[in-house]
Amino acid sequence: MKGIAILGFGNIGSGVADLIEKNKSIIEKAVSDTVEIKYLVDLRDFPDSPYADKIVHDLTPVLSDPEVSVVVETMGGSHPAYEFSLAIMEAGKSVVTSNKEVVANFGTELLAAAGKNGVSYCFEASVGGGIPIIRAFKTSLLSDGVVDICGILNGTTNYILTQMKENGTPFADALAEAQRLGYAEPDPSADIDAIDTQRKTCILCALATGQLVNPENIHTKTLRNVSTDDIAGAEKADAVIKLIGRATVREDGKVNLSAKPSMVRKSNPLATIRDVYNGIYVKTALTGDLMFYGRGAGKFPTASAVVSDVINVLTGADQRLTPWTRAEADYIAPADACVTERYLRVPADVAAEANKLFADATKLSPTEFLCVAETEASFLAKVAPLAPEAIYDLIG
Ligand code: HSE
Repeated sequence: MKGIAILGFGNIGSGVADLIEKNKSIIEKAVSDTVEIKYLVDLRDFPDSPYADKIVHDLTPVLSDPEVSVVVETMGGSHPAYEFSLAIMEAGKSVVTSNKEVVANFGTELLAAAGKNGVSYCFEASVGGGIPIIRAFKTSLLSDGVVDICGILNGTTNYILTQMKENGTPFADALAEAQRLGYAEPDPSADIDAIDTQRKTCILCALATGQLVNPENIHTKTLRNVSTDDIAGAEKADAVIKLIGRATVREDGKVNLSAKPSMVRKSNPLATIRDVYNGIYVKTALTGDLMFYGRGAGKFPTASAVVSDVINVLTGADQRLTPWTRAEADYIAPADACVTERYLRVPADVAAEANKLFADATKLSPTEFLCVAETEASFLAKVAPLAPEAIYDLIG
């Protein structure tokens, strides 16, 4: 019998339990053994849950039970998820997580702990929900060099932007609906302030380069300032606004990293990705362009990725990662490498001045321009006297 414990019985944790029970025969066939959820570790009680008898309030029984070989961590947050994961791996058990915050902050230490203890640390569900993007990096792209990753990595905000664009839904209403549907985190600020995208970008960059940057060092902008005027401006530029996480590996070995609302040309496949779906474009040196697409959030797509990791661990099929190193601060270069144009909108009273300054730019209206990209810092300095209402990178 293969015993499984789940830490955190929230939306994803309960989805993992439900999926294991629902698809038990498929899972048991895959691992050639019986499987059993032995413990659900949570501070709360769930007296009405079918799993009520599995609830325990601390980690001790999990650590000391030799039948538990894999522990699912769906607690979220860095602490105590980090300390618990270390303790579990030190007890000789593998950890499978959906928790991007802990992977982005402590992936280096957690992978090192896995290596030291001869166990797996798996996090397929931490990026792209049900899309097998981590596995692609772990197993399929090993012989090629990744040069660019550009993705819609947050389902909640893609849902919100889709509702705003297609139905004219106000931001707050679209957010409330995303929460009702279970896409948004309990505190949606991580979604809408692009922190979630920042963390996922950080994880993808580490998978591509072996170096984990501090997520807070990624150039990040909130979605809160995206207005209906911006959405209309994007339409004039034959583009749509998407929250984009981007990691570009430069020829000098440094990386450009950003997590921010950007305009994406409609000819780019990322522009067609709607609702809660995620899309991740990966460019490699030899294979060229790859696109990954699927449900990036939600209870069961995420649980599906978690349980697949569990199966891979139990069958010994998990391809263990070489531990990441922590990147030096100067590893991150300014995030401009792949931006070809910027969208600029200025107030009407400075339109004449802006038209003089951007005489060579593409004019979308008397107050809106597509400007050939310079570095963001120099562009910001140049346009500061115009007090712009909006500036977006344009991704072709
Ligand atoms: N809140 C996240 C999202 C959940 O909307 O993408 C999946 O990571």
